[in-house]
Amino acid sequence: METLAPLAYLIASICFIMALRGLSGPETARQGLVYGMSGMAIAIVTTLLLPIVSSYGLIIVGIAIGGSIGAVIAKKIEMTALPQLVAAFHSLVGLAAVFVAAAAFHDPVSFGIGTAGDIKIASLIEMSIGTAIGAVTFTGSVIAWGKLQGVIPGKPIIFNGQHALNALLGILLLVLIIMMCVTQSAFYFWAIVLLALVIGIMIIVPIGGADMPVIVSMLNSYSGWAAAGIGFTLHNNLLIITGALVGASGAILSYIMCKGMNRSFFSVILGGFGGEQASGGAQDMGDRNANIGSAEDAAYIIKNASSVVIVPGYGMAVAQAQHALREMADLLKAEGVNVRYAIHPVAGRMPGHMNVLLAEANVPYDEVLELEDINRDFSQTDVVYVIGANDITNPAAKNDSTSPIYGMPVLDVEKAKTVLFVKRSLGSGYAGIDNPLFYADNTMMLLGDAKKMTEDILKSLE
Ligand code: TAP
Repeated sequence: METLAPLAYLIASICFIMALRGLSGPETARQGLVYGMSGMAIAIVTTLLLPIVSSYGLIIVGIAIGGSIGAVIAKKIEMTALPQLVAAFHSLVGLAAVFVAAAAFHDPVSFGIGTAGDIKIASLIEMSIGTAIGAVTFTGSVIAWGKLQGVIPGKPIIFNGQHALNALLGILLLVLIIMMCVTQSAFYFWAIVLLALVIGIMIIVPIGGADMPVIVSMLNSYSGWAAAGIGFTLHNNLLIITGALVGASGAILSYIMCKGMNRSFFSVILGGFGGEQASGGAQDMGDRNANIGSAEDAAYIIKNASSVVIVPGYGMAVAQAQHALREMADLLKAEGVNVRYAIHPVAGRMPGHMNVLLAEANVPYDEVLELEDINRDFSQTDVVYVIGANDITNPAAKNDSTSPIYGMPVLDVEKAKTVLFVKRSLGSGYAGIDNPLFYADNTMMLLGDAKKMTEDILKSLE
């Protein structure tokens, strides 16, 4: 098996690369998942057949317990809760990296990296860096989970001298890593673990709720690098390749999300945006009244349109309105109306959030268009049906330089003849700022739950 293992690992690595490729588009995502699962199955079976595995008892118990918990969670989890679930899972990867490094440090002979007190220097460096990244990932992910789950307040925790303190802790960590490599002392090893756990908390607490998905993606990247670190300790090439793939793809995803929100990655890391109440940028709406309509009014307007663009946002996900929405679109298409969907890169709470929901409702992929492909068409559109979206349509991003979302690309829905806005109130979205579109002459607000309102419109249309 030992001679076949490199070949099996190579095949598994290719499967993982194909999985990432497949997951980059909704049409190929399912195929990507099949590649990912196949790669993981090959990797697990190959590893279990290696001579280094001397007994299967504990491994089988671990797989049974972990697998059962994973299966139950996967069945039960709501799409809107996925970001916190991902954060929770990353915390386990971080913890695993710390445990593997601790095992290797205390029993180097079993890992073939030397003897106690005489561990190879390369292994010591890999081990200490892997431990530090793993411990930061663990506490960082736990705090991110708490904020997203609402267990910890989403408001950024900021105090004077915070960045200087973090920089100091970073330098101290570097000193401890050097000391541990020089002395090989268990004291320094555990001091690295402790300090890295504190750093994980310190770098996440100043970050507000709105930036949390970017942070989850960043922690995803960290967990990949931590796994790659374990790969070096265990001399497992597949773990190194897989960890690097996760690390690199997480970093690229964080970059794409920052670009979608027009924020620099650095400013996200430094934190402060997107607390419960964003400061500044709230526009004075004076005593302007919004034009509030009913499902019947909306049905009348939509029925007489020849082109409709649907703009889904976080509220559609919360209400699970995608199926009712597709039924409404089917009915309109049967009447000869041109119906399309416009997807903003950061609509919802995670990349691809809207695409997944629409795919679940069997919306044809060719009707779903990205921002850059549809933004020019709004001026020739009769009706835009904005369902549970807010920030991604806010023109303040284009014309109010004091707005926290200034510079973020937005969908130009206001250029359509009529904009129908489905949400429960005139309240703000995730960025905590008012949306002047609610008071525009060509806007009709349809106040209510996204699913209920869409079903009522559907009834009126029928
Ligand atoms: P939001 O701006 O958060 O607006 C969603 C709106 O949905 C809310 O204003 C809310 O208004 C409404 N809503 C909630 N539940 C509803 C329900 N049951 N029925 C009807 N409406 C409901 O969402 P968006 O437009 O999708 O924009 C996404 C935001 O998340 C952006 O600020 C973006 O920067 C941020 N963000 C996204 C990501 C990714 S990757 N997607 C990452 C980081 C940050 P009511 O309470 O009045 O109903």
